[in-house]
Amino acid sequence: MKVNFVDLKAQYATIKDEVNTAIQDVLDSCAFVNSRSFEADFAEYIGTEHCVGLGNGTDALTLAMKSLGLGSGDEVITAANTFIATAEGIGLTGATPVFVDCDPVTYNIDPAKIEAAITDRTRAIAPVHLYGQPADMDPIMAIAKANDLLVIEDCAQSHGATYKGRKVGTFGNAACFSFYPGKNLGAYGDAGAVCTDDAELAAGIRKWSDHGSAIKYQHDFEGTNSRMDGIQGAVLSVKLRHLDAWTQRRTAVAERYNAGLKDVCVVPLTAEGNKHVWHLYVIQVNNREDVMAHLTEKDIACGIHYPVALPVTPAYAHLGYSAEQFPVACPAAGRIMSLPMHGDLTNEDVDLVIQAVREVAK
Ligand SMILES: Cc1ncc(COP(=O)(O)O)c(C=O)c1O
Repeated sequence: MKVNFVDLKAQYATIKDEVNTAIQDVLDSCAFVNSRSFEADFAEYIGTEHCVGLGNGTDALTLAMKSLGLGSGDEVITAANTFIATAEGIGLTGATPVFVDCDPVTYNIDPAKIEAAITDRTRAIAPVHLYGQPADMDPIMAIAKANDLLVIEDCAQSHGATYKGRKVGTFGNAACFSFYPGKNLGAYGDAGAVCTDDAELAAGIRKWSDHGSAIKYQHDFEGTNSRMDGIQGAVLSVKLRHLDAWTQRRTAVAERYNAGLKDVCVVPLTAEGNKHVWHLYVIQVNNREDVMAHLTEKDIACGIHYPVALPVTPAYAHLGYSAEQFPVACPAAGRIMSLPMHGDLTNEDVDLVIQAVREVAK
């Protein structure tokens, strides 16, 4: 039996009527550009005053940082082990990403290593709530406050996760979300958003996303075109109603994996005070190639998030980092692997995966 990594077909089957009606409404109204209704729904869900819908999560990061005034000559501290888009958002403003190693248990940026990375050019910290687990926000916010730094949260993998009872996306100056189809809350194409309590910032991001314009054909600066499509917003509003139930199922799947695998590999741990939303279920094994080959043979999908830490990835070679500077993230990149994780996995699927991993993992 095949076990998919994510299963958008199975998910669609459970919400088909609602989604089809919502898309039909957009077709009938021809409201193809902009998604104000979803923006209101999502701001309420996260608990921020504003949400600006955008074309994708990379633009959310880039436009939030540009609108906060980051640019050439500035440095932004971020995690060594994240998807490249976090660092691209920084680089696309003209600023330089400064990578900090991660915590060995949560894989999130290690707050104890942030201060050593601060220079007189540092303007911001961009923590990532990786795999669905909140970064350790209390010390991060304290460091930001003490050093007068902005905080831009990368929430692309953590819709609905909470830190000490508070939703991620409500801590920093801006919170950037991706709604790429495979995310916990995924559109039927590309989409992203920035959530913030700062009205001026929200207006600035909206202007950036619409050719530097708040009034038609009045362009205050050169912006870009990155608005959330009406169809994507309609799909996302439907899916948002199901998100918490899907997260519950992801959590049950993670608990079943943990129970079945904890004696044969390093299973993920949730830090105290965190509600993890399990975007990815990541284990560590000593013989990754063998485990992945065995799963593939059994028709069980798996992946690596991510195989090379960003400081030693070719795109950042010019920054001159070495693997030795990241004693946690770099070795972990050679041992981690991700197992199937989505809200439509059955217990039978999960048990098949557990059994297959147990047959070879060391
Ligand atoms: C941590 C992280 N940041 C940013 C992004 C960028 O989002 P998008 O693919 O919507 O541009 C992603 C997802 O792809 C991500 O996983």
